[in-house]
Amino acid sequence: MELKLTDLTKKFGNFSAVDHINLTMRNGVYGLLGVNGAGKTTLMRMLCTLIKPTQGHITYNGKNIYEMDSAYRNLLGYLPQEFGFYPEFTVQDYLLYIASIKGIRPVVAKKRTKELIHGVGLAKAANRKMRTLSGGMKRRAGIAQAMLNDPKILILDEPTAGLDPNERIRFRNLISELSEERLVLLSTHIVSDIEYIANDILLMKDGKIIRQGTLDAIIASMPETVWICHAEKQQVSSMIENYRVSNIKAENDHAELRIISSEKPLPEATPVQPTLEDVFLHYFGEKAGDNHVEF
Ligand SMILES: Nc1ncnc2c1ncn2[C@@H]1O[C@H](COP(=O)(O)OP(=O)(O)OP(=O)(O)O)[C@@H](O)[C@H]1O
Ligand SMILES: [Mg+2]
Repeated sequence: MELKLTDLTKKFGNFSAVDHINLTMRNGVYGLLGVNGAGKTTLMRMLCTLIKPTQGHITYNGKNIYEMDSAYRNLLGYLPQEFGFYPEFTVQDYLLYIASIKGIRPVVAKKRTKELIHGVGLAKAANRKMRTLSGGMKRRAGIAQAMLNDPKILILDEPTAGLDPNERIRFRNLISELSEERLVLLSTHIVSDIEYIANDILLMKDGKIIRQGTLDAIIASMPETVWICHAEKQQVSSMIENYRVSNIKAENDHAELRIISSEKPLPEATPVQPTLEDVFLHYFGEKAGDNHVEF
């Protein structure tokens, strides 16, 4: 299986939300990581044939997905970033309803719904109304609806938004179970979600894929060094002004700083192995959503 993006571009007026992307994806979990406005949703909407590219094309096993039309959509499962659900429906009725929209035969739909409700860990909530579910449970119902047709391509836009730590772990396990024999593309701006689930990481910035590879490869591509050093508390604000600080730990009257810099920031600074968070900070700077630190 091969999903290939060639010179893929989407313009809104003169602005390129997706800018000349060339990318080939096969089975496995791909993590699309980028800050707000990077173009993640726009890219995904094109992959779901919801919007048309301004330029370039997408092929599935060599065939244009827009020409494949419903044959392609039958292979596709999609969880939109803002997914509409039906508040008064029970989880089970909601899934059966979506199955009917997707044209799945009632007998098959019933069986599949039952399996998926168990699969995503909603067995106890099957008869609860959608509006009474927690955020994480709703997302899991959303993933179940995307899985109804046993898609070969599963596209999940910010599936972990608003999940608590327990739900995040459950979600990661669920994705690794679902990822066998299919392509899963998920977007997030939360580094730790990508680190554990994606085999392949795509860093997206200003409509472009600026880096692609395994976690190790992405980390190895980091051009700057990460340093740990200790500073007096009163030095901290000037260090923040002068360097890219990825973390600060307070220690009595001292602070331990984690700094991303090509040069040694302080004489006793020691180089350490970068993490994906450091790489993210290197490329995305101050906008690095979840790893901004206050002192
Ligand atoms: N229909 C539209 N018309 C005009 N501009 C749009 C439209 N859709 C998206 N954009 C712009 O394209 C850019 C990329 O938006 P997109 O929603 O793809 O980003 P994103 O990476 O998904 O961001 P987020 O993390 O906030 O979800 C943004 O600058 C956005 O304002
Ligand atoms: Mg988005």
